Amino acid sequence: MALSSKFLLFCFLLFFISPSIAKTSFRPKALVLPVTKDGSTLQYLTQIKQRTPLVPVKLTLDLGGQFLWVVCEKEYVSSSYRFAPCHSAPCSLANAPYCFECFGTKPRPGCHNNTCNLLPENTINGISFNGPVSMDVASIQSTDGKNPGKVVSVPKLLFVCADSFHLTDLAKGVTGMAGLGRTKISLPSLFSSAFSFKRKFAICLSSSTKANGAVFFGDGPYVMLPGVDVSKSLTYTPLILNPVTTAALTFTDLPSSDYFIEVKSIKINGHVIPMNTSLLSIDKKGFGGTKISTVHPYTVLESSIYEVFIEAFTKGLAKVPRVKPVSPFGACFNSTHIGSTRAGAAVPQIDLVLQSSKVIWSIFGANSMVQVKDDVLCLGFVDGGVNPRTSIVIGGHQLEDNLLQFDLATSRLGFSSSLLFHRTTCSNFNFTSNA
Ligand SMILES: *[C@@H]1O[C@H](CO)[C@@H](O)[C@H](O)[C@H]1NC(C)=O
Ligand SMILES: *[C@@H]1O[C@H](CO)[C@@H](O)[C@H](O)[C@H]1NC(C)=O
Ligand SMILES: *[C@@H]1O[C@H](CO)[C@@H](O)[C@H](O)[C@H]1NC(C)=O
Ligand SMILES: *[C@@H]1O[C@H](CO)[C@@H](O)[C@H](O)[C@H]1NC(C)=O
Repeated sequence: MALSSKFLLFCFLLFFISPSIAKTSFRPKALVLPVTKDGSTLQYLTQIKQRTPLVPVKLTLDLGGQFLWVVCEKEYVSSSYRFAPCHSAPCSLANAPYCFECFGTKPRPGCHNNTCNLLPENTINGISFNGPVSMDVASIQSTDGKNPGKVVSVPKLLFVCADSFHLTDLAKGVTGMAGLGRTKISLPSLFSSAFSFKRKFAICLSSSTKANGAVFFGDGPYVMLPGVDVSKSLTYTPLILNPVTTAALTFTDLPSSDYFIEVKSIKINGHVIPMNTSLLSIDKKGFGGTKISTVHPYTVLESSIYEVFIEAFTKGLAKVPRVKPVSPFGACFNSTHIGSTRAGAAVPQIDLVLQSSKVIWSIFGANSMVQVKDDVLCLGFVDGGVNPRTSIVIGGHQLEDNLLQFDLATSRLGFSSSLLFHRTTCSNFNFTSNA
């Protein structure tokens, strides 16, 4: 009797003590990072704080990237830097089974013996070379979905050290890439497990080089001024796994970390454009299909698709004089002959028809056209050549001012289409902290 009442008391205490522990160590429901667009490279950039003492680290955002990588070669000063010894838990989480040595004379961040390595890749130019799996403290702002709040930290955020040659072609000031891809060690996965929140994240890219867009880690609300919860206006489509890696180099056989969706056809002004539909599915070698990318500034279409696409679009704009194409685009128009709408230039609507004829990602003028000169608007799609790895790569310009939410647990994508129809944009998150 005495024993069981003691046991009950113990349970009672446990019940009351544990929530108070949880309360004192603030646990965020979501995190937010600002995203800027670099005008010269058209890359989307973000920034986290890392190391001891904390320093800002500027990164190119890579939606399909496998993990966070940062150059450690020089200027990496941190008392909390750790490398992952080979066969340790971080190495198995990272799928990095092999042991490496570094032939430098003395150990430093990025150069240790007995480490496991991965292959950080600059996905803009395909440069890939191995570097050790590492950890360091990182801090990032939490959010209630309306404003940034308290800064929270992850004591041992996994990343991979890279060399400075990895930075070729990246925007000025950038020292790495923030991989949000489909792996256990991408930033969304690591943040969700660090704070036990939903395995969801969302990107909302600004179309302006002067105003911030955002990446949200965790579930909505995602509120844009003047008080529009954009997480409420999503349509869903399954995310498709490409079983063959799309990385330049790998040590092990892994599926692709890119986010693929199923586009079944493309309509322009409501008419399906004729194309070889086998290009739209992923074959045994991992070729074909449609992926979403933040490292391609414009949507890239396989050559035969591109040809019929341009032809159909131009036919739909027959009354507008065409002008000499401006590289990298293949179809440009005299914009003084084109009207405007709430969602940009009044041009033929482009529909990506997804898993059923009722699920459609519609692209309007603001996302289809690029103003290259005062009186010239070009169709913002580019030719991907014959036999490319992926037939359709939906690029940055087509994603701007659209909310995309990736649900890793249920493997589905929520997309909003243009937020301009909801009278807001991706640059309307209120970044004033309320902490
Ligand atoms: C790693 O070990 C080799 C000898 O096995 C040594 O020459 C080298 O300096 C060591 N590297 C570091 C960074 O300690
Ligand atoms: C359609 O595309 C597939 C995949 O690239 C190719 O193997 C096939 O030959 C193409 N068919 C036609 C009729 O062009
Ligand atoms: C566009 O059309 C206007 C009016 O017709 C004309 O003045 C202008 O030169 C044209 N621009 C180009 C690039 O063709
Ligand atoms: C942005 O958020 C701050 C902090 O909550 C608030 O004081 C400010 O009024 C908000 N700005 C707008 C334009 O609503």
